[in-house]
Amino acid sequence: MTTNKGFCASVCRCFFEYSTPQILVIRSTKVGTLNRIIQALVLGYVIGYVCVLKKGYQDTDGVLSSVTTKVKGVAVTNTSDLGLRVWDVADYIIPPQEESSFFVLTNLIMTLNQTQSHCPELQNVGFDCVTDSDCKAGLSNTRGDGVQTGRCVNFSSVARTCEVLAWCPLELDLRPPDPPMLAGAENFTVLIKNSIRYPMFNFNKRNILPHVNKTYLQQCVFNRVTDPDCPIFRLRDMTTEAGEDFQTMAVHGGIMGVQISWFCDLDLPASWCVPKYTFRRLDNKDPENNVAPGYNFRFAKYYKTNNNKETRTLIKGFGIRFDVMVFGQAGKFNIIPTLLNIGAGLALLGLVTVVCDLIVLTCMTKRNLYKENKYSYVDDFELLPDGTP
Ligand SMILES: *[C@@H]1O[C@H](CO)[C@@H](O)[C@H](O)[C@H]1NC(C)=O
Repeated sequence: MTTNKGFCASVCRCFFEYSTPQILVIRSTKVGTLNRIIQALVLGYVIGYVCVLKKGYQDTDGVLSSVTTKVKGVAVTNTSDLGLRVWDVADYIIPPQEESSFFVLTNLIMTLNQTQSHCPELQNVGFDCVTDSDCKAGLSNTRGDGVQTGRCVNFSSVARTCEVLAWCPLELDLRPPDPPMLAGAENFTVLIKNSIRYPMFNFNKRNILPHVNKTYLQQCVFNRVTDPDCPIFRLRDMTTEAGEDFQTMAVHGGIMGVQISWFCDLDLPASWCVPKYTFRRLDNKDPENNVAPGYNFRFAKYYKTNNNKETRTLIKGFGIRFDVMVFGQAGKFNIIPTLLNIGAGLALLGLVTVVCDLIVLTCMTKRNLYKENKYSYVDDFELLPDGTP
């Protein structure tokens, strides 16, 4: 009977209970300092990091951009095949224009006067033979250059290979010339025109800045110290900044990245929004495992000879492709992100009490004293005149 009564009483006590916050002021330098330090940390985070560093009061937008390029310069080659020859833009820029990118031919292996005819296949492509029975008419393979005719012929005085129908004479599998044929390419310049737009803020700008005039543009070359606003770059300067030697890179070819970054704070004057250029090599130049290095491809120039026979010049071209990459972000004051960040900051300040309470009630030496004062119970039931609940 008594236990039942006791249970009933505690349920009643729980139900008829009202809790109200009581302010406990702890006058202690230790606890006070702790509280201020945590508050300072939170304020430092909200003001220093969120507002100043991350500009939490701003709306941000990503960049839209367009890029065009124009290379200038001439190079001279002097070989036994071609004699003295000048190479201009139309010769060494392939294709004439690309999107956000340009390729400069720096080295080449030329095979002149190829016609559709019969010749011995190269060695070591699986077409080596001793007699005609080793060759099969109509057979070809991906490593070979043509279709077999079924005859076994002398490749050289000591080796025999199957005869093929192909563009003959075949290109010999040679190493690219070193130094590169178009060594003069290091002095070529490129004008990179880049227009950007931040649609959210209706902000447009281009990398030819307003103060750059025509005469300056005609003779300037980008230099980080003396001409940082000139949008004309010497090819060698770009590879040098990327920590590469142009002539070494030109032998086998490669890929260079031209990064243009536009990080703009549009709360500041628009003239402070200027592009920043950085250069780096993008393809792998790992010297440890440098199988198949660089960048090359083949193309041909076709013509007809006097006897109306179709003839071509095959070129295995090595060169450097420059990829222009534009990235950036703009920020401008907006009330919505500001309010969001203020709200988050206030919520964090509320957290300070929780953390302080936790430390005060569990780690401090006087925690029991604090606990006694922190929670106080006013028990109405105890106050019944007969002393029983
Ligand atoms: C590039 O220009 C510099 C100076 O104008 C010159 O000394 C150098 O020989 C040129 N490079 C080539 C490969 O012609």
